[in-house]
Amino acid sequence: MKNNHLLSNRTKFVKPTFQSSVNTEGHINIGSGTPNFIPPIEIMNEFKKSIDEYKLSYTSWSGLSELKDSVSNKLARENGYNADPNSEILITTGAQSAVMAIFMALLDQDDEIIIPAPFYNTYEEIAFSCGGKVIPIITEYTSNYTVNIAQIKKAISNKTKAIVLVSPSNPTGTVLNKKLIKEIYDLVVENNLILITDEIYEHYIFDDNSHYSIHTDYQSKENVISIYSLSKGYGLTGLRVGYIVSNKDLIAAIAPFHHAMSICAPVNSQYASIAALNLGRDWFNTILEDVNKRKETWKTVLDELNIPYGQPQGAYYICFDISKYEMKSSQIAAKLRKEQKIIINSVDDRYLRGSFMQDPETLQDGLNKLKKFFNNL
Ligand SMILES: Cc1ncc(COP(=O)(O)O)c(C=O)c1O
Repeated sequence: MKNNHLLSNRTKFVKPTFQSSVNTEGHINIGSGTPNFIPPIEIMNEFKKSIDEYKLSYTSWSGLSELKDSVSNKLARENGYNADPNSEILITTGAQSAVMAIFMALLDQDDEIIIPAPFYNTYEEIAFSCGGKVIPIITEYTSNYTVNIAQIKKAISNKTKAIVLVSPSNPTGTVLNKKLIKEIYDLVVENNLILITDEIYEHYIFDDNSHYSIHTDYQSKENVISIYSLSKGYGLTGLRVGYIVSNKDLIAAIAPFHHAMSICAPVNSQYASIAALNLGRDWFNTILEDVNKRKETWKTVLDELNIPYGQPQGAYYICFDISKYEMKSSQIAAKLRKEQKIIINSVDDRYLRGSFMQDPETLQDGLNKLKKFFNNL
């Protein structure tokens, strides 16, 4: 490209990847991170009403106060802790911009962020864009990709700023238990670091696992920044609303960076989010049951193929190890697209990430093709 020499070094690392969240004509998507259900009508009605009433301008930078109140009530009701709507909550343009604003506020050149791997790639891209780097902690499917304390201790250096826990996890489906999260929190406090908890899949929990928010036990929110989103648990990925919860000093430090990126979250989406948060969660029960059934369908197929995976405990992904095929997962994903018209995500070089977000017939069609492909490899 003619202007190549003008591009930042960042562009050498942060490159466009294949976007599996957008369906490609004639393909079956069995890897998508986008929920496939229609959200409750009350949310849509509020969205439309706000347009009919010409609510089209910026909101306060930190979000509509009515939305921050709804978030605060939701946290008390569902997560078991209190957050002051005026100082401890920042409404963001999805969790993605929350991560960016947080890393901009935390990272100086060469600072390090520790994160269990495999992880959601964006974390690495954003850390790099902010001058920092990710220190991955390798986890294995044999222990459901659960990190242990000794590994984290070993990874802490004088450059470490934060430890990120995504639970339930994209891409592994791992749900970290309360005991482990508390131990990691103790380690964070001991080393005077920040614990970043990405809880955006909090509503997708299987079997006897449960979601735990560390603020439940440490209401002061010292050393902790938590990220939530309306994208996954409400099926509203396109509306772009998330929120950060932390103590008032950290929120005040992060807010200007979010403002620099997008001023505020989209106003109509914020109105829809108020309706979503005030609805309660009963409508979601049947959706979760269906997601759980599709998890079992996935497991049956992988068992038949003798492909190892970690047990999905939450989120809506299954992360399986295809190293026995002696090809990079990105090559296998590209072959699947070309030969079987199947879209699936590659993770690191060793894993593929399957998703439970399709109707059962489409999933079965896709999995039949996946079986055919691996049986002939
Ligand atoms: C772990 C994780 N964090 C953040 C995001 C970004 O979500 P949002 O749509 O809220 O920006 C995603 C999206 O898939 C994700 O998987």
